[in-house]
Amino acid sequence: MSIKKSVVLFSGKGSNLKNLLENSTNIKDKLMYKAAFTNNPQAGGIDVCHKFSLDVRVCDDVNVNSELSEFLKEYDPDLIILAGYMKIIPPEIVNQYVGKIMNIHPSLLPKYPGLNTYSKILANNDTYAGATVHFVTCNLDQGPVILQGKYAVPDDSDESSLQTLTHNAEHIIYPIAVKWFANDIIRMEGEKLLLDEKLIESPIVLLIEQSSV
Ligand code: GAR
Repeated sequence: MSIKKSVVLFSGKGSNLKNLLENSTNIKDKLMYKAAFTNNPQAGGIDVCHKFSLDVRVCDDVNVNSELSEFLKEYDPDLIILAGYMKIIPPEIVNQYVGKIMNIHPSLLPKYPGLNTYSKILANNDTYAGATVHFVTCNLDQGPVILQGKYAVPDDSDESSLQTLTHNAEHIIYPIAVKWFANDIIRMEGEKLLLDEKLIESPIVLLIEQSSV
């Protein structure tokens, strides 16, 4: 079977991108990272790409969606990984890659779609927080959940400590989700997740102990 081609889209620091690239060797017979794309010329993830010798397309915000379309046409990826990509991908692009786009979001979806999840967790005194990997559909942060990483919120949390804990959860679950995709263990059908061809009715959740941070 041919090796799947993957591209990564990012806008910021690139810790998820770095972590995925670091975890790529154990799936190298199944999936290869071909290139990356960013809408932010200042993004720290650009240095990550250089460090890993990954081709990176840097575009400015103005023509982002036409440049993204061209980029995707050029690489024809089997999997598009959103790793802190902070632009909404328009439906005409999403619909061309149904079941081939994955995103990571810093909350336990469906709780807190959109922005500012850490302040919402604190304002609501949540007991648990975490991160979600999901397939992307045209509805923002609402596609079928692939995997969640959940942790207990410590009493003395602030936004910065929540970010650290959430990134830790993300760095555990994203490589697992990508590995599942690479090995054809998961796929999206309609708006549902199939795992080993079985319909998953409620999200698969990994409980992350504080000691793993
Ligand atoms: C991650 O926490 C990711 O969940 C979030 O951006 C951060 C990127 O960090 N994504 C979103 O909020 C998308 N809605 P990174 O650049 O260090 O990987």
